[in-house]
Amino acid sequence: MAVKTIEWRADTVRMIDQRLLPTREVFRTYRDYRGVAEAIRSMVIRGAPAIGVAAAMGVALGMKGYFGERARKRFEVVAKALRATRPTAVNLAWGIERMKRVLEANLSLDAASLYERFREEAIAVYKEDLEINHSLGRFGAELVSDPATILTHCNAGALATAGYGTALGVVRAAREAGKKIKVYADETRPFLQGSRLTAWELHKDRIPVTIIADSMAATVLAARGVSCVIVGTDRTAANGDVANKIGTYPLAVMAERHGVPFYVAAPLSSIDLDCPDGKAIPIEERAGRELTEFAGKQIAPRGVETFNPAFDVTPAALVTAIITERGVAHPPYRESLSTLKRKGG
Ligand code: MRU
Repeated sequence: MAVKTIEWRADTVRMIDQRLLPTREVFRTYRDYRGVAEAIRSMVIRGAPAIGVAAAMGVALGMKGYFGERARKRFEVVAKALRATRPTAVNLAWGIERMKRVLEANLSLDAASLYERFREEAIAVYKEDLEINHSLGRFGAELVSDPATILTHCNAGALATAGYGTALGVVRAAREAGKKIKVYADETRPFLQGSRLTAWELHKDRIPVTIIADSMAATVLAARGVSCVIVGTDRTAANGDVANKIGTYPLAVMAERHGVPFYVAAPLSSIDLDCPDGKAIPIEERAGRELTEFAGKQIAPRGVETFNPAFDVTPAALVTAIITERGVAHPPYRESLSTLKRKGG
């Protein structure tokens, strides 16, 4: 996809505003870490790897002009504001942690040199994410038949990463390998990442995509020859339990019921070995207005109670395989995931 999700541009961070897609392509420019934090919180940018990149770039912006002990204090303030934005995607904390290592290793530098190191690291996080997605895509493409009908949920595409995508990276790599691919995209209530974003980027790349409402997935799995389900993840625990966009868990249950493989595309930065299982993953709850309003218009009784968890946890037992940039993990995941994490340092 030619459009850049996020970009470092001459001491600013530029992002496409994903809240306005697919009808408007508007770019926002941030000069300050607070703006980046608000962009993550309000979902101008979303998707676990993309918010990891945004957090790293946000830290770089926030550290400009600081050095020595003042830099250490400043880092805590900047990191706290960014960390508080969205709790589930572990990539956010991972991106900040990478920047912390830069701070610790360069405390003796003057302000300009330290800022340069932060800037370089943030750009490196961005570039590595692109490479990771291509590598993950190639491993995943080997699991995809030819022809294949792939069902996906939410948006784990170029828009959710530095580019290319994780689940949609597998779709793209399978296409590049010459396979005939067709995609069903769950609409993904309530934020509509599937119908707005997945459909937008696949359609732009001329990859055949059909939108369905989330409630139609069982019908599609039962009668539309789905070869596999591929989704992304915000955080995968050490035992292979997968936190991803709300609605992923029912999809995994339905896939098992219909004997369809359920794959998770997970860069190693989304795998949290410090989380023993899914119960330890913090699940973000978002404002009830995402359910009671639609495009700013009220669609439910005023004052009614809501429950709006942004993610759910799919038990490892329902996951056929986890695709990473260093290879494909199979059950038992406790062993296979830690082996892959260790591989290559
Ligand atoms: O709330 P979102 O849009 O940030 O949720 C995104 C997802 O659930 C994605 O599937 C996940 O972050 C993986 S993106 C490669």
